[in-house]
Amino acid sequence: MAEQAYATVAVTGATGALGSRVARRLAEQGVPQLLVARDPDRLPELPAAQRRGPAAYDDAQAMRAAVEGASTLVLVSGRPTGRRLEEHATAVEAATAVGVDRVVYVSLLGAAPDATYRNARDHWLTEQFLAGAGVRHTVVRAGIYASTPAALADDALTVRGPGGTGRAAFVTHEDIAAVLTAVLLDEGPASEHDGAVLEVTGPEALTLEEAVAQIAESTGRPYRYVPETLEEAFVRRWRMGLPGEQIEAWISWYLAIAGGGLSAVTDVVPRLTGAPAARVVEADWWPAPGRAS
Ligand SMILES: NC(=O)c1ccc[n+]([C@@H]2O[C@H](COP(=O)([O-])OP(=O)(O)OC[C@H]3O[C@@H](n4cnc5c(N)ncnc54)[C@H](OP(=O)(O)O)[C@@H]3O)[C@@H](O)[C@H]2O)c1
Repeated sequence: MAEQAYATVAVTGATGALGSRVARRLAEQGVPQLLVARDPDRLPELPAAQRRGPAAYDDAQAMRAAVEGASTLVLVSGRPTGRRLEEHATAVEAATAVGVDRVVYVSLLGAAPDATYRNARDHWLTEQFLAGAGVRHTVVRAGIYASTPAALADDALTVRGPGGTGRAAFVTHEDIAAVLTAVLLDEGPASEHDGAVLEVTGPEALTLEEAVAQIAESTGRPYRYVPETLEEAFVRRWRMGLPGEQIEAWISWYLAIAGGGLSAVTDVVPRLTGAPAARVVEADWWPAPGRAS
């Protein structure tokens, strides 16, 4: 039987944790790719993949040149800058201008105009833009990364915040990448994922204490979670010298978990990948402590 020939996919964020996993999975399936980065020298070398850039999302000309020749764009959301809508909208418009007819956007679970988690609000703005942009699209809302508590730990491996005993369905990068790959391989003339909003979660809703205990088990290192009051959380971060926006963003992350709105477990991982979602303890990778700030 002849191998299936796939159309070319442009993958952004491929110097990062999520995009690199998507690129590796697509390469394993023989999908031709354009890997797009601000610093193309940091892109992985993969079969059937061209390295493109330098292209930042808000540089329309560079993005047009970088994604030209692709049918589909995977837009991994950029880091929070206060300008994410402009950055993402510019990237989408640049792609459609050179013939990309499908966009798969990596959004965030809980994206809403009034989301408790500050960084979830501008994901909602991008989702609205995409819905009106007149291009085939799928929104993949990534759940809270299993790796984030490890990145939030201090040098003593302590994670401190006002998360209380709220629960979240933490999900691994590998599972999000697997879902994105399944969506991308189902390219159709019209995919069942067109217009869909897929909420990608892990298999169980954990408190921060439970999630951090699984990180400790996985790494063999003594990570622990110490709940803070809201007031303690603000004062400690301010005295650490963090800027106000970052203080608000991180505290709102804990408050979103405390509020329970990120605790629903969905069937997206097993339904699209055919395998159960990984538990936190099964994650393949842990960022260094302190990386989140
Ligand atoms: N679901 C969650 O819990 C969660 C947690 C944290 C973040 N996120 C979001 O998910 C995204 C991907 O996560 P990740 O773990 O893969 O993050 P990551 O390792 O920091 O990778 C982010 C990637 O996006 C690229 N990028 C960022 N801003 C860009 C811009 N303006 N123009 C072009 N490229 C840009 C980065 O390029 P460079 O290498 O050039 O910087 C990098 O390749 C993050 O960027 C963030 O929006 C989600």
